[in-house]
Amino acid sequence: MSTISTSIKTAASASSSFSSLPHFDRPTFLMCPPEWYDVNYVINPWMAGNLHRPSRDKAFAQWKELHHHLQKIADIRLIHGQPGSPDMVFVAHAAVVQHGVVALSSFNHPQRQTEEQPLRRWFQSAGFLVWETPRETAFEGEGDALFNATGDHLWAAHGLRTCLQSHRHVADAWHTKVTSLHLMDPRFYHLDLCFAPLSGGHLLYYPGAFDAPSLARIEAAYAPEMRIPVTEAEATQFVCNVINVGSNILMGVSGTSVAKRLSDAGYTVTELNLSEFLHGGSSAKALALRLSDSKITNGIPAQV
Ligand code: ARG
Repeated sequence: MSTISTSIKTAASASSSFSSLPHFDRPTFLMCPPEWYDVNYVINPWMAGNLHRPSRDKAFAQWKELHHHLQKIADIRLIHGQPGSPDMVFVAHAAVVQHGVVALSSFNHPQRQTEEQPLRRWFQSAGFLVWETPRETAFEGEGDALFNATGDHLWAAHGLRTCLQSHRHVADAWHTKVTSLHLMDPRFYHLDLCFAPLSGGHLLYYPGAFDAPSLARIEAAYAPEMRIPVTEAEATQFVCNVINVGSNILMGVSGTSVAKRLSDAGYTVTELNLSEFLHGGSSAKALALRLSDSKITNGIPAQV
């Protein structure tokens, strides 16, 4: 293990250890403009048949619209993309951030490994503590690891991109509890395509993406009235790939009954058109990486 990781272990075990690290009082995200976005290769089933299909002009306009709406409810930092990394726009997969500590991804596919170094540099120069993940045990950031609303429990997926063996190592960055979930359907190759813990304690999810033991773990953690299951047809429109800030939800598709169910549950849903990013196999959530702590992002008041 590198010296960087060792020093983090020491830092994370002292209770006051996070105080010198970057802290955000407002919901804050990192985004990467789609300057170099394209479908240049096929590493998920959605990219097949879509080589070079996205229009960069349309993608830029759609991304700007998302940025515009997110900026109304959160602060946004930017990292610029680079030629040769067409998927870098999906910046949420590069890391998981909590308390100023960053578990940096080790991408499964070589095509995305070129994204790691620019992200590492960005986080280091912004003062974050970087927790490296080993190359041998792939880990794909918020694609496969999501905190619950209160930020004390990490849900992590394996089976298609991220290795099961990475889960404990990643959770050790914050000494947090982790529950592993096994993904079964290659169309839902990342957890953020089928599982979204929401600020009000609800779970938006597609049950068909998981094996039976994983479903049992989900059902043990979320009472039936807190679960918002979606159908296969809805899941394939990436309705679970949402950005949630307080009671606001940004969704990359419009006209689904899921938006109505979310608003019945108390959320304000903004429906956007992110069609160009569907060709790459993704939607809203993947385009913004959370930097502020889960509790701040979800608007959960501090306990007194
Ligand atoms: N083309 C990218 C990849 O396959 C897109 C990732 C989007 N995934 C997601 N979970 N939202 O890695």
